[in-house]
Amino acid sequence: MNKDYEVIIVGSGPAGYVAAIRCSQLGLKTLCVEKHGEDGKPSLGGTCLNVGCIPSKSLLESSLEFYKAKNTTKEHGIHLEGITLDIKAMQNRKNNVVKGLTSGVQGLFKLNGVDSLQAEAVVEGEGKICLKLPDGSEEEFNSKHIIIATGSKPKILENIKFDRETIVSSTQSLSFDRVPPSLAIIGAGYIGLELGSIWSRLGSKVTILEALEDFLPDVDKQVSDEAFKILTKQGLDIQLGSKVISAKKEEAGAQIKYENESQELSLASDKLIVATGRDPVTEEVIGPESGIELDEKGFIKVNAKCETNIHNVFAIGDTVRGPLLAHKASEEGIMVAENIAGETIQVNYEHIPSVIYTHPEIAWVGLTEGQALDKGLASNIGVFPFRANGRAMASGDNEGFVKFMSNQQDNSILGAHVIGPNASEIIQQVVIAMRTKTTVKELTSTVFSHPSYSESLHEAALLSEGKAIHISNRKR
Ligand code: NAI
Repeated sequence: MNKDYEVIIVGSGPAGYVAAIRCSQLGLKTLCVEKHGEDGKPSLGGTCLNVGCIPSKSLLESSLEFYKAKNTTKEHGIHLEGITLDIKAMQNRKNNVVKGLTSGVQGLFKLNGVDSLQAEAVVEGEGKICLKLPDGSEEEFNSKHIIIATGSKPKILENIKFDRETIVSSTQSLSFDRVPPSLAIIGAGYIGLELGSIWSRLGSKVTILEALEDFLPDVDKQVSDEAFKILTKQGLDIQLGSKVISAKKEEAGAQIKYENESQELSLASDKLIVATGRDPVTEEVIGPESGIELDEKGFIKVNAKCETNIHNVFAIGDTVRGPLLAHKASEEGIMVAENIAGETIQVNYEHIPSVIYTHPEIAWVGLTEGQALDKGLASNIGVFPFRANGRAMASGDNEGFVKFMSNQQDNSILGAHVIGPNASEIIQQVVIAMRTKTTVKELTSTVFSHPSYSESLHEAALLSEGKAIHISNRKR
């Protein structure tokens, strides 16, 4: 077994595997170590591909198909009878999607000459790493550079014990083999809303208990208000200001105790998903002698280039500060790889898009209206509803709007917030525009194809300038 590498990467999620491929492309002898796997063969892809982004999107899509078949195809003049749900087939489809993508990563490793190994790594300091192999043996490896990309895990709450059957994390909730008649979820964040949407569309009565009084506090208020209205109308019972104190498994399901306005309340449900955030996986990978510093929340301390306090040891993705998002993680992987190879690359942390894959999707980039006000920036704002967009009307997918904001002083784009069809794709156009410092004038004078959902972005930008065509240019 070769034990000398130029780069060893610990973790094969979207941070680690992307870093590994780029390192190898740049001519560095690279090993990617992953603790999950079988018989020494690592299962690659991390949380995102195995139990996160990809399986959840697969089930979101399937559940939306089911919901549409039951509720909206009639509007198109299509009458379907005897619609039934085969949850086993739905889960098999999801598993096949996951398998296709994870084996795809394996293929990319082969193509790019990345070595991979199933092992649990402990970083011992500069250049030194100990790998615990599946047979229990331990091997010391040397590597000039080490990249820690061990990701995150569901946060554990005091007084709530996961039994992986009735009280579960997002991981197990993606593999339910039946639709629970009632489902409680703790936390109305990204995970709570996406999983709540899946199981509600498939027939569960979903209650989401959220400790905060504000719904989606990081999202522009106009968008979060609209999202609350739409999701509530879809059947999600979102109870704000409801802090869960304890939950336990009883014979009939989960028994949950929570506080709302100082009142102690209880809720019984067949299953309970705990979606109260994620914690970094860092302590396990850092040897006691390594000297690598963590912050008070357990994230590895890094600078803007993802360098830790130890020379040539880097940390990326969910193990470090910033949003826990796969696309941010991958970009950090590429930055570190390029910098190890002698380039000087910096991730553009200012323009990272966020997307919540409910239906309609919610996506944003840049400042919210509230943040612009707090910064004392006077903004021009255009809000264009999808019900005035031809493509959205034709498809019947016309809830929501695009909100576009620019700086009155220098005509720069401050941010955009979309709730509506294809929001995840529309927002990317604003990310590119902001990244390339496109002015509002340049954006408004760009030709958008017709009919397209993206025209709502064009109209919102035009509206911010008082030049919209398909809506009144009245000042708000
Ligand atoms: P989150 O931080 O978005 O939401 C957790 C919510 O739980 C918070 O609103 C919090 O107030 C609430 N909460 C905490 N303790 C509670 C209690 N005792 N009772 C009631 N409510 C309580 O975390 P979430 O949804 O678990 O997601 C974790 C991470 O995964 C996020 O940071 C997100 O970036 C990432 N993610 C991203 C996705 C995407 O990009 N579409 C999809 C899923 C996850």
